[in-house]
Amino acid sequence: MNTPVRIGIVGAGRTRNGLGPFLASAAEAAGARVVGVAGRDPGRAAAAAQALGERLGHPVQGYASALHLAQAVDLLVVATPAAAHQEGLAAALAAGVACLCEKPLVPAEASHAARQLVDGFAARDLLLVENCQWPAVLPALFALFPHLASEPVRAVAMGMGPPERGLPLVADALSHLLSVVQALAPVVAGPLQDLEVADRSPDAEHNRVRCTVPTTAGPLSAELHVTYCPAQPRPAWLSVNGCRIDRRIGPGYTLQFAAGERLQAVADPMHQLVYGVVNLCRYPDLERTRALHREIRCRLDWYEAILAARGCRPS
Ligand SMILES: NC(=O)c1ccc[n+]([C@@H]2O[C@H](COP(=O)([O-])OP(=O)(O)OC[C@H]3O[C@@H](n4cnc5c(N)ncnc54)[C@H](OP(=O)(O)O)[C@@H]3O)[C@@H](O)[C@H]2O)c1
Repeated sequence: MNTPVRIGIVGAGRTRNGLGPFLASAAEAAGARVVGVAGRDPGRAAAAAQALGERLGHPVQGYASALHLAQAVDLLVVATPAAAHQEGLAAALAAGVACLCEKPLVPAEASHAARQLVDGFAARDLLLVENCQWPAVLPALFALFPHLASEPVRAVAMGMGPPERGLPLVADALSHLLSVVQALAPVVAGPLQDLEVADRSPDAEHNRVRCTVPTTAGPLSAELHVTYCPAQPRPAWLSVNGCRIDRRIGPGYTLQFAAGERLQAVADPMHQLVYGVVNLCRYPDLERTRALHREIRCRLDWYEAILAARGCRPS
């Protein structure tokens, strides 16, 4: 494909923590062209189109709905709050275009409808990617702890500081842990075991999720530690078999990961993910597309099961 991949963004602004403007810049850095946006209504879409056009330095059109936008692009980016993802996914599927959707794919209560949507993408071999960028951090972990490359992965843990309380604190970060587990170990079909959400109370400001994932190398222990954190800098760390790296954010969102005194620079993982998605639009890869469908479907099942798991403390 010689012409740039045409991108449409549903939810292109940043009212709370949305990544729309950054996804737009990443898409253009990857050689794509953001041509249009849609929002919660035509007025908000027009405002977002104006703001994004100024940021990107070229006109961006506002569309009346996600469906109208999807019909005019090659890739629909769904960057709205999670409750509105289903509408964006349905628009991309109805228009028959590829879709990059923010995490979580949908809120847990919409899992059934989401499975049908994912099956729809799969039936048409249409690209569907969830914006889970943490696997792109793994090379830094292996650079800082080279011996990990020759060890089976037995334990994965992540710590994050989402700006939410209660179960949304868990829901916000869970896709990142699950996608990292999938990137590290070949998962065996079957349910998660030993599921535990430490605190299901609606005002919880700390929480811990534990589960055991069946993999071809044996059971893998996965843990998520979350702490309510209303503003940046938010803590973020990743550990494999007890070897931990912590994120450090520098000026201009330059990223480094630290293991004690040792540091490893990382190119923005979200840029890396968007680059890969734009490339898959340019040079379709059926095998990769089908693998992504399987991963997303598996994550949906895990996500729903974990958020429904019994807590140690009652809600
Ligand atoms: N991958 C990551 O690491 C990462 C990091 C941060 C956030 N996220 C994800 O990004 C998503 C958005 O974050 P957020 O919830 O904080 O978003 P937000 O900033 O509140 O909103 C993002 C954009 O969506 C628009 N919007 C809101 N409701 C809409 C609707 N019903 N229909 C169409 N557009 C709508 C907003 O427009 P208005 O101007 O009209 O409000 C805004 O332009 C979430 O899924 C979140 O999990 C991912």
